[in-house]
Amino acid sequence: MADSPLSVLTLVGSLRKGSYNAAVARALPELAPPGVTIVAGPSVGDLPLYDADVQNTEGFPPRAREIAEAVADADGVIIVTPEYNYSIPGALKNALDWVSRMDPQPFRGKPVAIQSASPGNMGGVRAQLHLRHTLVFLRALAFTAPEVIVFRAGQKIGEDGRLHDEDTRKAIGAQLEAFADFVRRVR
Ligand code: FNR
Repeated sequence: MADSPLSVLTLVGSLRKGSYNAAVARALPELAPPGVTIVAGPSVGDLPLYDADVQNTEGFPPRAREIAEAVADADGVIIVTPEYNYSIPGALKNALDWVSRMDPQPFRGKPVAIQSASPGNMGGVRAQLHLRHTLVFLRALAFTAPEVIVFRAGQKIGEDGRLHDEDTRKAIGAQLEAFADFVRRVR
């Protein structure tokens, strides 16, 4: 029997035009296994800093609603993020903070995979661990392994913004296949 089709959303932790992480996220649709559609989610930018008073007086900002709806509609989410000072970027954390206050909270029970890219040798792995920590409070179903840690990203992503490195593409393909199995199991 054919596997059921899945729709997976990507969220990118970088706002930078030439972002390595955005380049990795752009490569995902072509690396996905058959039956898995991967679509880019809204930017985590264009959001005011989380403030409960704003939430209580003006409600949620439109971008927070867009992100929440996209997450709710997806079968799974892949967060592709840089590491900033050994943690996740403020813009990503801020977006998660806004979405975390929604009812229903769309990450609850949602399968989530993590990827990171960095020009450094550690590939953003410390940010991955901090993100896992946040996903615990969100009650997301964090996918564990295989991990995708794109270290020395400058050598793997070309000036054209494409991920060229074959080993990395294979590693990502393996994660996407295992993540799809995970999503189908927990659905
Ligand atoms: C960084 N960078 C970085 N890299 C890393 O591997 N570990 C780190 O802790 C940090 N810290 C950090 C803080 C801040 C504020 C910036 C701007 C950068 C470098 C970072 O990996 C690099 O700029 C990447 O290119 C950012 O990802 P994008 O924008 O290319 O996706």
